[in-house]
Amino acid sequence: MNAPLEGKNVLLGISGGIAAYKGPMIVRALTGVGAQVRVVMTRSANQFVTPLALQAVSHNSVGQDLFDPAYEAQIGHIELARWADVVLLAPATAHLIARMAHGMCDDLLTTVLCATRAPVLISPAMNTQMLLHPAVQANIQTLRQRDGHHIIEPDSGQLACNEVGAGRMPDPPVLLDAVLSALTPKSLLGKRVLVTAGPTREAIDPVRFITNPSSGKMGFAIATAAARRGAHVTLIAGPTGLDDPIGVHRINVTSAQDMFDAVMAHAKAQDFIVKSAAVADWRPASQAEHKLKKQPGQMHLTMERTRDILATLGAMDDQTRPMLIGFAAETRDIEHYARGKLARKNLDMIVANQVKGPSSAFGADRSSVLFIDRDGRTAPFGPNTKDEIAATLWSRALTLSPRDSGHDATDKAT
Ligand code: CTP
Repeated sequence: MNAPLEGKNVLLGISGGIAAYKGPMIVRALTGVGAQVRVVMTRSANQFVTPLALQAVSHNSVGQDLFDPAYEAQIGHIELARWADVVLLAPATAHLIARMAHGMCDDLLTTVLCATRAPVLISPAMNTQMLLHPAVQANIQTLRQRDGHHIIEPDSGQLACNEVGAGRMPDPPVLLDAVLSALTPKSLLGKRVLVTAGPTREAIDPVRFITNPSSGKMGFAIATAAARRGAHVTLIAGPTGLDDPIGVHRINVTSAQDMFDAVMAHAKAQDFIVKSAAVADWRPASQAEHKLKKQPGQMHLTMERTRDILATLGAMDDQTRPMLIGFAAETRDIEHYARGKLARKNLDMIVANQVKGPSSAFGADRSSVLFIDRDGRTAPFGPNTKDEIAATLWSRALTLSPRDSGHDATDKAT
């Protein structure tokens, strides 16, 4: 399956701020997920990064001068404006922002910006006092309100001028996420989505616990994909080493009971709940207050059942409950067990995967799944990346039929 930006054309506009030195890293982030990248620089960007470096990483010559016959012969400025599926301006200086706000076309970059109808993502990066200047703020506000234009909020932190404050250009992964988001149809706009991810940990004593190998990658990919589609996303995550997904509200939990409490506190407000977490089915019946000292011979633990979060959700009133999507982690008879869980837990869809052997989904970046829904559709998918599985999950979830009970799934599937 294709990389997320396969076949997409990204025009990177670089203006003359210190953050321009990250230009090649941005290009690599974009080409790394399949994008074709062309770079246009302003004259002052040349002071911070060389056209040769950008040409080497983008595999395209870099545009600098509106009246350069050689460049114009390769790709005219209007052709470039039409070529772009999305424009990313990183960094966007106060000067570039001012020229854009006023529709000036006095160099190649601003001329292309006037001519393009592609979405334009603007990453302002400058000294904090410059950013806060009323003229700069007014210009940013003008662009914020302009159709097809989107401001990527600057980070706060240590700036090149040694001041600490807002004005830092976000790192390439954040800019890449903005590009992916701009190219993703907003099929979940206004919807509320709750995703659970990762393992749970059930304590034996203060220093020992029982857990499983779930990495959380699948759930994090599902949460990210929903946020890119415009949903308001809450991610309830067990212990994982993963960074916060961009644009997602993350709640960290440890045990199955913590996850139960967090999910129940948020369940009613949701349109969709996706339970990809590998929740422990048993926990030690009691947790020792102090570290257990080793003794000769065997040690026996008495375990008790945890509560099944998904089954509890499935038992909610059909009229008010969100769409429920579960996962089935199986080592054999995948389809048979997954169908059983779909029916028993009263789900709308289940995603079954293999968690044994070399093709185990646990911890892997790629896996194969089987989608089964209550409309009777069964579809194998993969092997593929967890990002592609997440995208397919949302495409399928949005085509589920309304529940007979009167649950308003037409609204849910807009
Ligand atoms: N699940 C849950 N709460 C639990 C256990 C599981 O919400 N205490 C959810 C999982 O998040 C997943 C689905 O139920 O979406 C199925 O989990 P899985 O571990 O595959 O199956 P179990 O229901 O635990 O059944 P079994 O152990 O018999 O396979």
